[in-house]
Amino acid sequence: MKYDIKSLTLEEKMKLLAGRNTWQLETANGKLPDVFLSDGPHGLRMRDLEKNETKKATAMPNIVVIANSWDSEIAYLDGATIADDCIENHADVLLAPGVNVKRTPLCGRNFEYFSEDPFLAGTLAKAYIEGVQSKGIGTSLKHFCANNREYDRFYQSSEVDERTLREIYLPAFEIALQAQPWTVMCSYNPINGVWASENKWLLNDILREEFGFNGLIVSDWGAVHNSWRTAKATLDLEMPYREKAYEEVKEGYEKGYLTEAEIDARVEKILALMEKTENDKKVITTTKEQRHQNAVKIAQAGIVLLKNEDNILPLKGGDILVTGPYSAMGGGGSAFAETDYQPRSLKEELADRLAGKAVVSDSQAVVDSYYYVCGIRFAYQDAYGKDAVVVCVSNGPSTETEARDRTSIRLTRTQEDLILNTAKVNENVIVVVLAGSAIDMSAWADKVKAIVFAGFTGEASQEAVADILSGKVCPSGKLSETFPLCLADTPTGEACGDGFTERYREGVFVGYRWYDKTEKEVLFPFGHGLSYADFEYSDLTVDKKSETDYEVSFTVKNISNVDGKEISQVYVRDVFAMVARPVKELKGFAKTALKAGESKRVSVTLNARSFAYYSVSLKKWYVENGDFEILVGASSRDIRLTGKIQISLPENEQCSH
Ligand code: BGC
Repeated sequence: MKYDIKSLTLEEKMKLLAGRNTWQLETANGKLPDVFLSDGPHGLRMRDLEKNETKKATAMPNIVVIANSWDSEIAYLDGATIADDCIENHADVLLAPGVNVKRTPLCGRNFEYFSEDPFLAGTLAKAYIEGVQSKGIGTSLKHFCANNREYDRFYQSSEVDERTLREIYLPAFEIALQAQPWTVMCSYNPINGVWASENKWLLNDILREEFGFNGLIVSDWGAVHNSWRTAKATLDLEMPYREKAYEEVKEGYEKGYLTEAEIDARVEKILALMEKTENDKKVITTTKEQRHQNAVKIAQAGIVLLKNEDNILPLKGGDILVTGPYSAMGGGGSAFAETDYQPRSLKEELADRLAGKAVVSDSQAVVDSYYYVCGIRFAYQDAYGKDAVVVCVSNGPSTETEARDRTSIRLTRTQEDLILNTAKVNENVIVVVLAGSAIDMSAWADKVKAIVFAGFTGEASQEAVADILSGKVCPSGKLSETFPLCLADTPTGEACGDGFTERYREGVFVGYRWYDKTEKEVLFPFGHGLSYADFEYSDLTVDKKSETDYEVSFTVKNISNVDGKEISQVYVRDVFAMVARPVKELKGFAKTALKAGESKRVSVTLNARSFAYYSVSLKKWYVENGDFEILVGASSRDIRLTGKIQISLPENEQCSH
């Protein structure tokens, strides 16, 4: 090691366990290098300490969009693009990504998280981390763990049974850890009564020992209540600086609660992080303009076409009106990246793409602010007689934000009225939704011809949405979370914890696992997304590769005359089980580019974990011998092919860690 722990005094070592300000680490009286940590995940949100302002950076599409792309290459590109902004601004570690499972659509930070499904969340987060770290910039996988809503996030304890933790809330971390993030950030909340920052079982026994994480564990900002207790639980670094932190560590040491060896173990992790930040591989490979172009490409990949009656999209031309508020590029809080990019309006972008075919106008109802819509009357008048009307609706960074949950999953009354009134005078209404999580659209979904869920698409939003609406780009995103008919249908309904505890009563039945089990209709299922192309599935084979590994292969054919991409999903169903298991679970997926008329063989591999449940009796993952179905779908409710296998493992191979 370049930095020798022996050169540090005990006092310097104790002081090193907390930051020196909000963003930087201690330097032990200048013996150690400066390390700067900065948010993430939607672009660099870095404080300029001299000017006391946030630096401008590329505002990338939010994680909800990356998730809806179901594309690891897109997630990697996103990470690598943000890393270039980090290198340019001398940020060493990006405080991202967050992989907390979307348990309720009310969670204020859902736009920052990937999915209701841990496999999808973990797989994409892994690629994002690899993208950032390929540039010599560190990441912080957060928030470990069971931080699934914002309500009273500092104090309310998440009460989760072990099987649910193991099967739903930990696997996204476990999978993402394969990318070896430099740091993991603990969450604010207690888990089963013990703060995440002091939870030795989670931090040491599971994260370090079972999952093999050997990087640095940092606290969320302000998640530490007592600094020797967190050090004892193997949390390495408390952020930000707190006056009493050093005194607490000293007290713990003097009273014999914390040994010097335990302090040294934390310091070693900090020194190792410092060495990594001095890595010389930091090479900027994109210009600012190229980073913006990457943002456009990523946004295009994650926009989801939810409905397209009469193939009204792509727009054919004629007299087109654009109306409604269009200003929400991202959710609020620590994830909000500030850009100096000046986007053109959607009307201008569309007019460009449809030049010679269409006249595009906008209505006086278009206002700058996301939280009001003025002049529904104007939109209503202007929409009359148009060939098509694009109505943009959005949740802004004050509706979907950190530190607060939504109280409703409907749009504001004015936005719903705008859609409904426009639909009264024009039968070709296309709604573009800019939001970060599921929206209850039941009041208006059947009154409009098309619905496009853009998500929070960052500074590239208008360009990417115009590309999709005009047909310049064929939509290829699919939902990474279920859109329920209403809030009451969700696993947690309107209920929220009481500020003391929140019981995860639904257990492993989160997201589509819940709607499947309760046989509930949904507005748009998990994995749903349309295209301008059409795809046909055939010839499923499930080949046994070893005792526990299978290769699932099938053919996907583009039967249209448009080039497109199809996301195929592989679900596994345990036909008869001794424990309550979900009807099916996502265990693999692939996004395949197919030219018009082209067909390709797609393969996905399954392993022991694809069939196992977590046995709390055995304290291990356990494969129950018997029948399993392999379901290949275009969505979780559009299964196209079904295969059957019988697993019969020798007893000593049924269990694994
Ligand atoms: C958030 C983290 C963030 C940190 C630093 C906290 O409030 O929960 O996600 O990285 O602040 O801004």
